[in-house]
Amino acid sequence: MKKLLYILSVVAVAQLASCTNDDPKKPGYEYMGKTDMYRSPSYETYSSNPNFSDSMTARQPVAGTIARGEVIFTDYDRLSYPYPNTPEGYEAAGAGLHTPLVKDSVNMAEGKRLYENYCIHCHGEKGMGDGAVAMNNGPKPPAYNSEALKNLPEGKMFHTIQFGKNMMGSHSSQLTPTQRWKVIMYVQTMQGTQTASAAPADSAKAGSTPKM
Ligand code: HEC
Repeated sequence: MKKLLYILSVVAVAQLASCTNDDPKKPGYEYMGKTDMYRSPSYETYSSNPNFSDSMTARQPVAGTIARGEVIFTDYDRLSYPYPNTPEGYEAAGAGLHTPLVKDSVNMAEGKRLYENYCIHCHGEKGMGDGAVAMNNGPKPPAYNSEALKNLPEGKMFHTIQFGKNMMGSHSSQLTPTQRWKVIMYVQTMQGTQTASAAPADSAKAGSTPKM
């Protein structure tokens, strides 16, 4: 009798155990008609895949992909910014801060691209302060060739991009220091070219070569 009980309990345990199934691909009896409700038709990440010649389901990123947050930083970009966010810091940057970049067409083209991404909606296509955001919500930024800005030193521009100024927020999280200098290079082309009266003081400066 004892032996029989023992055998029965072993059988009972075995039957219970067989109800749990470790393989989710084999769910046992499916009583709900269509099976695609249970199993996704997509390929598992690490399963082999007949659609690709290397049979990998997990694909490599497209060539040239830049990972989120992965911007190319130069040594220059790693230097800490020495001027404080004060009126004195602004003046000091204006006097002592200069671009480390050469004014060539590659840097200029990149500066234009960055300007069109980050600045044009307020400052406008030609830097007249008439971008869509400024026109719809105001206030308009002064034109780059205005009395106020046509002689603005590049160090002050950098300082403003770094910390922001009044209605213009800081752009230091959007642009690396090197990228800021590229944008500035492009902004300088708009400082002296729009009106004839803005020309004399600026035409001597290398950065104010007429754009068109
Ligand atoms: C949200 C709108 C807005 C955006 C975006 C914006 N600006 Fe401005 N910007 C302004 C306004 C408004 C002023 C005028 C600030 C003041 O003097 O009160 C200004 C001022 C400036 C000045 C003069 C700074 C000074 O020291 O007097 C420069 C240079 C400038 N912006 C460049 C840029 C560049 C480059 C970008 C893109 C990276 C940019 N701005 C993006 C609104 C904007």
